[in-house]
Amino acid sequence: MRRLRGSATLRRMVRETALSVDDLILPLFVDHNVGGREPIDSMPGVSRLGVDLAVEEAQAASELGIPAVLIFGLPESKDALGSDAYDPDGIVQRAARAIKAACPDVVLIGDVCLCEYTSHGHCGVIQDGGVDNDRTLELLAETAVSQVEAGFDIAAPSDMMDGRVAAIRQALDGAGYQDRLIMAYSAKFASGFYGPFREAAGSAPQFGDRRTYQMDPPNAREALREIELDVQEGADLVMVKPALTYLDLVARARQRFDLPLVAYNVSGEFAMVKAAAANGWIDEQRIVYEILTGIKRAGADLIITYHATDAARWLREGSF
Ligand code: PBG
Repeated sequence: MRRLRGSATLRRMVRETALSVDDLILPLFVDHNVGGREPIDSMPGVSRLGVDLAVEEAQAASELGIPAVLIFGLPESKDALGSDAYDPDGIVQRAARAIKAACPDVVLIGDVCLCEYTSHGHCGVIQDGGVDNDRTLELLAETAVSQVEAGFDIAAPSDMMDGRVAAIRQALDGAGYQDRLIMAYSAKFASGFYGPFREAAGSAPQFGDRRTYQMDPPNAREALREIELDVQEGADLVMVKPALTYLDLVARARQRFDLPLVAYNVSGEFAMVKAAAANGWIDEQRIVYEILTGIKRAGADLIITYHATDAARWLREGSF
């Protein structure tokens, strides 16, 4: 076997998986209440941004060749029904208009969920102490329509309600947006790895947890059923989230479905790398290379990652 590893050139020739900048999606947090940039402590290098800086970061990503950004919004204020999520002049709608105007080639993906916008922090409408699935669907559909009206190319529902892909597809088609895509967070697990994101978005649930709608971590067959339903309901891209502790599902989904497959390298996965690197315990660049390459090798076509900008730079320099 060692004959195949004898030189850098030989290794390059027989390399089976190649990470490309085309595979990367950069998440951005846009905050109504931030003028410039407010760093997120648990996610070194990531900040909550005002609209102007979000435009700058999207532009910088695009110049590095990153094809798409995923936008999360922090509203001016939150309420029980998350109304800023579907306000035509809400924070992500304003950000989308500004980014589209400045860099029209960037693919804009909108996270469709209510948890960043609700005072209780749950991903839907609360009724009798629980999240009401079907009332939530109406608001998610309204959110998706208001996002694409503002210029989003892709609606990405992350709420894990049943039937949301069908509801959003129907609403988009009804509003004349047959051309806009749906990227479904299909197999999204109730995960401790979202901790830093919830700190960043102030979206931790005020009571209970998300286990009645996000998936139970031990369940793999159920994850494949979730993906299958989203395919039937009209999803254009499907996702497994988080990535690293669910790579078995990335591999199984790759074998079973022919749609583009996305994996979300989430905030907790990012924070662990950053913390260990800051302590000098790991070589960040090598680790990020292995993480992103591993996610691709498992079968993902696209990777949502907070490492996107660094990775794009390292790919460009040829140091990956
Ligand atoms: C909103 C949403 C979450 C993430 C993406 N969309 C948080 C959650 O479900 O609690 C997590 C992303 C990350 O951790 O990087 N529902």
